[in-house]
Amino acid sequence: MHDKKIRLGILISGRGSNMQALVQACKDQDFPAKVSCVLTNNSCAAGLRFAENEKIPTIVVADKPLDICRIHAILVKYRVDLVCLAGFMRILKADFLEKWKNRVINIHPSLLPAFKGLNAQEQALKAGVNMTGCTVHYVTPEIDSGSTILQYSVPVFPDDDLHTLSERILFVEHKCYVEAIKLIAKVKLCN
Ligand code: GAR
Repeated sequence: MHDKKIRLGILISGRGSNMQALVQACKDQDFPAKVSCVLTNNSCAAGLRFAENEKIPTIVVADKPLDICRIHAILVKYRVDLVCLAGFMRILKADFLEKWKNRVINIHPSLLPAFKGLNAQEQALKAGVNMTGCTVHYVTPEIDSGSTILQYSVPVFPDDDLHTLSERILFVEHKCYVEAIKLIAKVKLCN
């Protein structure tokens, strides 16, 4: 068992399936991370109920505009080492990212730098590519542009629609996020 684990703060806005994949991975005693808290900007986020049932501390920060100082204070309070965006659909400002430099990561449903921004799966279908996937990357002020940690690819079939393609990508997202945390932990826990 790891005597020291990376403490994750997971930020969600909706379904939270990537968060669930991370929570499940953390149940393995050999996994090098644990979930310290789940934070959301959306009190109706489906993922929130899952985290509550798992007895993980959950916090709703629904202020508009997003109260970055409050989010920072919560992450500090829960001694978070790594902030994991998992379908968190709000922009984090540059001053927050500066404080958390190299400690905020995100999962995006495309092989970045292709198809940045919203509706990446739809963009891939429209572009007619025969391969797409997902990327776990560091978050920087410029959207979907920080360095890549890990990417998984999937084929795009001629009869795919938004649903079938999104599901295929989501399946590998869950694996990719877990493996990316392992890679980060290897570096962090060895230093
Ligand atoms: C995932 O497909 C994730 O890659 C995407 O939102 C979905 C969240 O699903 N994120 C983005 O598009 C960020 N630009 P989940 O709530 O079930 O994890």
